[in-house]
Amino acid sequence: MVDTQAAKKPVRHGPLLPPRARQLVLTVHVIAAGAWIGVDVMVAVLVVVGMTAADPAAAGLAYQALGTYVLGPMLVSALLCLATGVALGMFTRWGLVRYWWVAVKLAMNLALCAAILFALRPGMPEVAAYGQALAGGAPPAPEVVAQLVYPPAVSLTALALATWIAVAKPWGRLGRRRRPDAAGLRNPG
Ligand code: HEM
Repeated sequence: MVDTQAAKKPVRHGPLLPPRARQLVLTVHVIAAGAWIGVDVMVAVLVVVGMTAADPAAAGLAYQALGTYVLGPMLVSALLCLATGVALGMFTRWGLVRYWWVAVKLAMNLALCAAILFALRPGMPEVAAYGQALAGGAPPAPEVVAQLVYPPAVSLTALALATWIAVAKPWGRLGRRRRPDAAGLRNPG
């Protein structure tokens, strides 16, 4: 007789996190992901305030805050999300590249971290300086402002998608044809 419950459990060799430790790491992972989304929402708010505020002093302040304070929390939450995600992948039965939903999130997280470091970070001092100049009475520079719309739009879209992927766990296992048991697996522990 076929043991259908056993068939649902992916075979895994190597150390697994004890249940309490897994809960703790998963909690930190979800908090880090939520904090990262929160920072991105804050970025979007600051960009919108910078673009729409009638008072140049308020717009300048928004750009100064954006250029000075945002990158640190964004990078910390993104790296914490990555580190805890990698730990959950490596030390639970999900594996790091065993299921498409984990592998895709890994690729997205790495790509977003690279974008923060190599696309966003270099321009931040210029944004802060622009904010200072604007508050001091300099004319608006639409070419600086136009580029600021994309980072929060791209990142928030990607993080919303990653959250859905985490919840729905779609696409089954890598390197195998989808089977009902693998596709239906939701929480192997
Ligand atoms: C890109 C940003 C990420 C977001 C927004 C995100 C979000 C989430 C959420 C909301 C959960 C809880 C889902 C549930 O329990 O049903 C979760 C679980 C999980 N995440 Fe992520 N995650 C991200 C990145 C990563 C990365 C990079 C990895 C691995 C390389 C990863 C691996 C995992 C694993 C294995 C679980 C399940 C843990 C378990 O049930 O034991 N995540 N993630």
